Amino acid sequence: MIMYKKKFISGIVLFVVSLSLFADEGMWMLHLLKQQKYPEMKALGLKLQDYDIYNPNGSSLKDAVVQFGNGCTGEVVSSQGLVLTNHHCGYGSIQNHSTLEHNYLEDGFWALTPAQELPNPGLTVTFIDKIDDVTDYVKSCLKRDAAKDSLGVFYLSPSYLNAIAREKAGEAFLKENYGTVVEIKPFYDGNQYFMFTKKVYADVRLVGAPPSSIGKFGADTDNWMWPRHTGDFSVFRIYADKNGNPAPYSPENIPLKPKRWLSISTKGVQQNDFAMIMGFPGTTNQYFTSWEVLEKRNIDNDVRIHMREIRQKVMLEEMLKDPAVKIQYSAKYAGSTNSYKSAIGANWAIDKRDFALTKQQQQDRLLAWAKKNGTKEYAQALNDIEMIVEQRSDLRFRDRMLYEGISRGVEFASIPTRNADLLASALQKNDQQEFEKLSTELLNDFYRFANKDYNPMVDKKVSSALISEYMRLIPREKQPEAFDEIYTRFDGDAARYVDYLFETSIFGSGQNMKKFLEGNRIPEAILNDPMIRFAESVKAEAASLKQQLAVFDRPFDKARQKYVQGILAMDGALAHFPDANLTLRLTYGKVKGYRPRDAVNYDPQTTVDGIMEKEDSTNWEFVVPEKLKELYRKKDFGRYAMPDGRMPVAFTATTHTTGGNSGSPVMNAKGELIGINFDRNWEGVGGDIQYLPDYQRSIIVDIRYVLFVIDKFAGAKNLIREMELR
Ligand code: ARG
Ligand code: ASP
Repeated sequence: MIMYKKKFISGIVLFVVSLSLFADEGMWMLHLLKQQKYPEMKALGLKLQDYDIYNPNGSSLKDAVVQFGNGCTGEVVSSQGLVLTNHHCGYGSIQNHSTLEHNYLEDGFWALTPAQELPNPGLTVTFIDKIDDVTDYVKSCLKRDAAKDSLGVFYLSPSYLNAIAREKAGEAFLKENYGTVVEIKPFYDGNQYFMFTKKVYADVRLVGAPPSSIGKFGADTDNWMWPRHTGDFSVFRIYADKNGNPAPYSPENIPLKPKRWLSISTKGVQQNDFAMIMGFPGTTNQYFTSWEVLEKRNIDNDVRIHMREIRQKVMLEEMLKDPAVKIQYSAKYAGSTNSYKSAIGANWAIDKRDFALTKQQQQDRLLAWAKKNGTKEYAQALNDIEMIVEQRSDLRFRDRMLYEGISRGVEFASIPTRNADLLASALQKNDQQEFEKLSTELLNDFYRFANKDYNPMVDKKVSSALISEYMRLIPREKQPEAFDEIYTRFDGDAARYVDYLFETSIFGSGQNMKKFLEGNRIPEAILNDPMIRFAESVKAEAASLKQQLAVFDRPFDKARQKYVQGILAMDGALAHFPDANLTLRLTYGKVKGYRPRDAVNYDPQTTVDGIMEKEDSTNWEFVVPEKLKELYRKKDFGRYAMPDGRMPVAFTATTHTTGGNSGSPVMNAKGELIGINFDRNWEGVGGDIQYLPDYQRSIIVDIRYVLFVIDKFAGAKNLIREMELR
């Protein structure tokens, strides 16, 4: 009796805990939402019908969500094809249009009429028209084409899958519908296949962007951090031909009349309000085994953290010494710290929540279930994965060390050597004409490499430090061939070796390059050039490691497919979400703060008060534009302030997002836009392996701040009038 009661209570506790633990987990496929998660979403407060979100036979919210470029998300917010995304997603376009006279990165940009909107060749916006389960079709094609697939790799091959997608759609259909693209992607490691029929618009124009002091406020210091005060948004417009179809850029094109656009709520959010996000998350590793968790932790992330620490420390020292270096290296430093910080966060979560154990428990559960059913194949698959991870560990370590430490960290490892090699053979053949042509190209190559943001002094210092550490951690016989010279000629002293490279190589300086091109042009000068030898030897080593590692790929992929098949067989095909793969997903949860540490409690909402607290006119990351300060002083917030008079900036939610979700619409229970997703907290990036209910938060710019900046700061009332504010 007591036993029973105890069991019963702990049963309830377990049930409640697991509900609250996992309620917000998942990046769900829209066409399965009704069966999978819709009831839970209703219970959490959703006020919509499932077909309001996804309706294969009519328009629904999903028709307002677009993939922006190849790695971000955007949302349509007017009947005239206006699109919102992040500032960091529009950054490349804004930068392309920036000059010293019109520095849109610095000052912002606002088109007051359609004629002022700026085209962006290469930028696309993609709508998902249809999602179909094509698992049976793909299986039958794989069977049909088995003879051509001797390596057994078609089942994951994008080029194969897209060829059979085109076959299914019919070339005639694709030809008649310019801009329509079909794609089949594998899900659950190749256990299911879905086909996407998309419409790709290639005339996308820049409409507006705040200055970086708003759109990138806090820059790298605040990146992956909460509390956050960044107005990370920009505005674009989709153009189409007069029938509303995709067309290449033309001045004749007109703004797209979309099927659907989001209306916007100015009512704001409260702790525990329902929130949902649709978008195109890039990569997750939900089905990692325990061994892969440790591989990621101890090899990939540890190497990245360790080598970038060395690189960034030297870089920062030089940046702080000299403002010119600071300008040169700020983008490189930012790129480096972005994934450095997320690797730290990932490892923190792996340890804090013991992901290896969580995944191990999942494996054990499968093994016990399989044993009951008398199946051995899953145990075999797990054995294979364990063995391969073990067998490839040394190669993987070397590969990561070479990538982080040398190929990426040493800038002169990327000198453009191709034209130099061609030039050497022209010299050998005594081909004067070819020589003249190639020497111009070589000089151009050189200045593309040694551009305004390249500083040889910084490269020397960073490289010496990285090469030394690489040599310390990788046994001599496993280093690239060219490293031999460091031992034989320089007693293993990387700094002296690097100095020598810069002194003697034609790539060492513009002077060296000119001296060679104008002077003693013997082929040996190139053939024996030590920096060219270094760069080529590093590339050869990278290729060799890649090749050695590739041997493991096929058996590994097969074992993973089997393992995930087992999980789906055990729990049911609808129980789990498939790993992110840049396809359209929905995640839902609540507006909520979090507790990063004992006794520390973060609110879910930030305000302009926090911008003023962070203001530092001597630090480019925290400069506040004068106009914003003036609006703040006058409390001139228009209709966008909170009931207590403060002006909102950003908020956090428990939604499950990852890279690629940047720019995604965040919607309330009625499907109205309440914010634009742009980041996560660093404590939450481990959610790529396992959702972290207590730590993981999406970081979202509050739509009221976006509207305030457009309306009050930029005075672009034309855009406000175009949108549907509620
Ligand atoms: N952390 C965000 C992401 O992963 C934003 C990156 C852009 N911002 C930056 N300061 N680097 O993409
Ligand atoms: N900042 C990321 C992006 O650009 C979003 C994230 O990683 O949460 O997609």
